[in-house]
Amino acid sequence: MKTYITKTREATIKLGEKLARTLKGGQIVALIGELGSGKTTLTKGIAKGLGVKNSRYVNSPSFVIIKEYRGKKPLYHFDIFRLDSVKDLDTIGYEEYFYGNGICVVEWADKIKKLLPKKYLEIKIKILKNNDRKIKIRK
Ligand SMILES: Nc1ncnc2c1ncn2[C@@H]1O[C@H](COP(=O)(O)OP(=O)(O)O)[C@@H](O)[C@H]1O
Ligand SMILES: [Mg+2]
Repeated sequence: MKTYITKTREATIKLGEKLARTLKGGQIVALIGELGSGKTTLTKGIAKGLGVKNSRYVNSPSFVIIKEYRGKKPLYHFDIFRLDSVKDLDTIGYEEYFYGNGICVVEWADKIKKLLPKKYLEIKIKILKNNDRKIKIRK
C-alpha cells in the first residue's frame, strides 16, 4: 500500500502520469472516492501518461458509462456513477474490456466490486482540508 498526498489538481494529474508508466495491458484500476474527490482528474493523468492525445479533454463519461482512448495501450474509462442497473454493463459487454488487453479505469468501482476480476489496482481518494487529497494505492 502506498499513500500520497496531493495539494493541487496538477499534482494529482502528475501522480496519474507516474502511475501510467507502471500499468500493464489487461490491468484494471478501480477508483473509489466521493464526488469531486479527483477520480477523473487522476484518470486524465493516466491518459496523459499513456500518451493519449488531448488527454485534457478526458472527462467523466457519466452518460455513456464508457469512453475509449487511444494511447500506447488502449484506455477504457468507465464511470459507474449513473449506472441504473448492472444489466447496462452486460449490454456494453464489459467482460470484453475487463478481461481484454487494454487498461480499464473504473470510477465508482466500489459499486460493481462483484463484477471486477479478482486482481485489480485499488485506489481510494479522500478529500482532506484545503484542496489536499489523500490517495491510497493498494496492489
Ligand atoms: N489535489 C487535488 N487533486 C485533484 N483534484 C483537485 C485537487 N484540488 C482541487 N481539485 C479539484 O477537485 C475537482 C475534482 O474533480 P473530479 O476529478 O471530476 O472528481 P471525481 O471524478 O472524483 O468526481 C476538480 O474540480 C479539481 O480541480
Ligand atoms: Mg468523475
